[in-house]
Amino acid sequence: MKTRSDLASRLGGYELTTPLVAACGTVGSVVDFAAVADLTAYGAAVAKSVSGTPWKGRQPPRLAAAGEGMLNGIGIQNPGIDAWAEEIGTQLAALPTDIWGSAVGHTATEFAKVAVGLDGAGVKAVEINLSCPNLEGGGMFALDPVAAADVVATVKSATELPIGAKLSPNAQDIVEVASAVDEAGADWVVLGNTVWGAGFDIETRRPLLSGIVGGYSGRPIKPIALRCVWEVSQALPKLPILGVGGVGAGEDVIEFLLAGASAVGVGTAHFANPRIGTRILKQVERYLRGHKTSVSALVGAAEPW
Ligand SMILES: Cc1cc2nc3c(=O)[nH]c(=O)nc-3n(C[C@H](O)[C@H](O)[C@H](O)COP(=O)(O)O)c2cc1C
Repeated sequence: MKTRSDLASRLGGYELTTPLVAACGTVGSVVDFAAVADLTAYGAAVAKSVSGTPWKGRQPPRLAAAGEGMLNGIGIQNPGIDAWAEEIGTQLAALPTDIWGSAVGHTATEFAKVAVGLDGAGVKAVEINLSCPNLEGGGMFALDPVAAADVVATVKSATELPIGAKLSPNAQDIVEVASAVDEAGADWVVLGNTVWGAGFDIETRRPLLSGIVGGYSGRPIKPIALRCVWEVSQALPKLPILGVGGVGAGEDVIEFLLAGASAVGVGTAHFANPRIGTRILKQVERYLRGHKTSVSALVGAAEPW
């Protein structure tokens, strides 16, 4: 029988009891999620992204099934960091796993303000969601290595929390962006977020989302996320990676570890089954037993042809 130590992993200096991380935006504030799911299946759970001031989000429809995956265009609806810290932050200490915050903003200064607020609320790490719109430049921070690095450096100077820089698979050159945020002080990268997508209802002839183009997630994006993890782990072997995208079973987690991720996010799969983390972890444990190995031994252990 394997012990839980075989499940332990680390993102640089940050220790995780299991390699699973409940992905941002798919477990709400984590507080309600904890009432239905066993949080101890996860080494950490990430609360929904928060900005410096309240964001209204987009009009419905904001979620739609699309083939084997899901489209979302929520627009990061949230109450802003001050209300968040008061309403949600105060409930986090009682939860049985590490809770991470996620910062979004239109400017590097806004990201830093949120990170400071998250820090004050007691989160154990902060994800910097660089895949949100950057109104000043009209694009996404995660597509621009210089802008992404500026946000990371500004947050780094404002908080001592460990920083995970969440990048986008839509980036032209994911290695270039990963390298820039690494140099700016990110403790790890999160690879990745949703892939731009769209869909249409052929009866109403309307787009599936009010915002038309949204984020595509779920099982079909797994190869895209694995490609990002592989490219970054090959180019920057010292930079820890949290792999996210399309995970629905223990086998997927093993694939991400082999590609070079040290921890693996579970996202869209929660919408079909909020308790799926426990099942995925059991499948990982079964693999470890069957192959007489451990999570840490599998990180980057893909064999060459
Ligand atoms: C409905 C929904 C909301 C999301 N909200 C956020 C968010 O607020 N911040 C963030 O960094 N990622 C957000 N994500 C992205 C997920 O954390 C994850 O990176 C992405 O969905 C890919 O993983 P998956 O295929 O396992 O879902 C959201 C995803 C979904 C499906």
